[in-house]
Amino acid sequence: MTIRSVPTPHGDTPSGPSSIAVPVVPKRIAATTTASTAARRLISGVTRRSSHDVDGWLGMHISRSRWHTQGMDTTASTNGESFEILRQLIVERRTNMMVDRERSVPGSTIRDLCDLAMWAPNHKRTWPWRFATFTGEGRMRLGEAAAMDLIAGGSDDESKIGKVRRKYARTPVVLVIGSAPDDHATFHDENRDAVAAGIQNLLLGATALGLASFWSTAPVIDGPNTLELCGFESGTRIIGMIYLGWPTGEGLPGERPEPEITIVDS
Ligand SMILES: Cc1cc2nc3c(=O)[nH]c(=O)nc-3n(C[C@H](O)[C@H](O)[C@H](O)COP(=O)(O)O)c2cc1C
Repeated sequence: MTIRSVPTPHGDTPSGPSSIAVPVVPKRIAATTTASTAARRLISGVTRRSSHDVDGWLGMHISRSRWHTQGMDTTASTNGESFEILRQLIVERRTNMMVDRERSVPGSTIRDLCDLAMWAPNHKRTWPWRFATFTGEGRMRLGEAAAMDLIAGGSDDESKIGKVRRKYARTPVVLVIGSAPDDHATFHDENRDAVAAGIQNLLLGATALGLASFWSTAPVIDGPNTLELCGFESGTRIIGMIYLGWPTGEGLPGERPEPEITIVDS
């Protein structure tokens, strides 16, 4: 993991890993990184291994440091245990479509998950999260609306349209999650960010409950037929079609590149 440090606004220098508050800049993908190695890195505390100084852009002095992982020092933080629980949940969440189509997910569970989504950060309290849940025959209606939006958008690919008509029946429940529009361009974009953050909350909640989940892109993110069926106002963008169900198998093993972190500390 490559880390660069950044001085705090007050000019004091971060003294250790806990004070790193910097953008993560993924540059290279370590194709060999596996979930287990990523997990080992995440589970561990970080320790400075070696460093060397270079002159950075704009003449700034940048220290580039290498960090490596060792056993998690839970004494370093009173919240080490909480971190470990959260880390496991995050690493265990996998995109997974292998579900029992006949076993329903209680409506109260769906409601709890939507509630969890709404605890994501949200700039200006615009409360942009919009939810619609589809079960039973409702899933076919969702497929029909999405197919109509595809056709209205000019698609004449019969095979693709047919798949869209059928695909939402693959799991017992599909949650459509939209981002409300905002007149202010920045808030409009930030609404989408808040909704994406909320979807991750929801997926982690689903993982914690033992549910399989799959975040998919809508065939048309602002198709009027789908928006109307969902009860979403015009201008809402669909950020995720979330498949949920009880797993019958595991998803593919997780894989992430190593993070590269810039530290500018002097
Ligand atoms: C915004 C967004 C849209 C996605 N849309 C699709 C999609 O349309 N089809 C698909 O197969 N996966 C989709 N995915 C899931 C990713 O393919 C999946 O997260 C990725 O393969 C990594 O797998 P993991 O979730 O198990 O780590 C989407 C993920 C995100 C964040």
